[in-house]
Amino acid sequence: MAILVLGGAGYIGSHTVYELIEAGRDVVVVDNLLTGFREAVHPKARFYQADIRKREEMDRIFETEHIDGVIHFAAFSQVGESMTNPLKYYDNNMGGTTVLLQSMVAHGVDKIVFSSTAATYGEPERIPILESDATRPTNCYGETKLAMEQMMKWTGVAHAMRYVALRYFNACGAHASGKIGEAHDPETHLIPLILQVPNGRRDHISVFGNDYPTKDGTCVRDYIHVSDLAQAHILALDYLMNGGESDVFNLGNGVGFTVNEVIDVARKVTGHPIPAEVCPRRAGDPAQLVASSEKAKKVLGWKPKYDDLETIVASAWAWHRSHPNGFAD
Ligand code: UFG
Repeated sequence: MAILVLGGAGYIGSHTVYELIEAGRDVVVVDNLLTGFREAVHPKARFYQADIRKREEMDRIFETEHIDGVIHFAAFSQVGESMTNPLKYYDNNMGGTTVLLQSMVAHGVDKIVFSSTAATYGEPERIPILESDATRPTNCYGETKLAMEQMMKWTGVAHAMRYVALRYFNACGAHASGKIGEAHDPETHLIPLILQVPNGRRDHISVFGNDYPTKDGTCVRDYIHVSDLAQAHILALDYLMNGGESDVFNLGNGVGFTVNEVIDVARKVTGHPIPAEVCPRRAGDPAQLVASSEKAKKVLGWKPKYDDLETIVASAWAWHRSHPNGFAD
């Protein structure tokens, strides 16, 4: 029996495939390569270039492979783009998930681990954020991810499918092998953008706002290593395979760092002065997002290995220094 990873050529998907293969699992990867990279797919995974919005393509995979469980990363994930082109997000994220769930039900596949996000909470009502806190997304991306969670919930009620939604905070870092890492086009995330400065691809990093109600005025985020996120998917899958009920878990380190603190850590790791310039706030950024991941630790037995920001940034730097142009290098 195999695990089907949808979006397994993307950033978090490819790292999860590496962890699954290293754990001895049989893995099938589906990706349409719109935002993923063929080079990111582990050579031991069976790869299908297919689109989850196409029912016949999904049916063919479920008919060809013996799939025991699904891990679903196949979605668009840029907050800014979701605000200027919301229908693109409804089409791929919710439309794709509709087709996927229909095909799973038709083929009797009843377990799914889903890549969700802290963006489902919107502006938090308290820090650290608990899974039981209100979900009021402030952008279309978060709205589609919350709707995808609900689609799994109600499909589960009707068809006895069980799901785990993993709400990640700020994913970062790269695989220890140096073979895969973060590569987005365009890049919008803080740590890879900072590291473009020592890589000679930009001359400074922009700091989006220094008038937030935080200790140095810049936004606070909870940075979690991508390999720790990957491990959580395997634990969530095993939880479902052992009969666990559908549930939602936060995944973060539980420690917040300001944008200025992250830049300082990157200066230390790279030995580069990394000039920073303060710019106006970016629309839709909450001042602080920090997770309580106690539930994932207690129920899934999750233990993040990378609890130190310097180690996390060093792991990202090892990848970006050797791959300044991502998978093109
Ligand atoms: N930032 C800068 N300068 C930059 C880029 C980012 O100051 O050039 C700041 C942002 O304003 C934010 C912080 O750095 O305060 C982190 O920004 P990222 O874009 O790296 O990450 P976000 O916190 O905005 O987004 C992450 C995920 C999203 C998810 C969101 C949940 O990448 O997918 O968390 O809120 F939706």
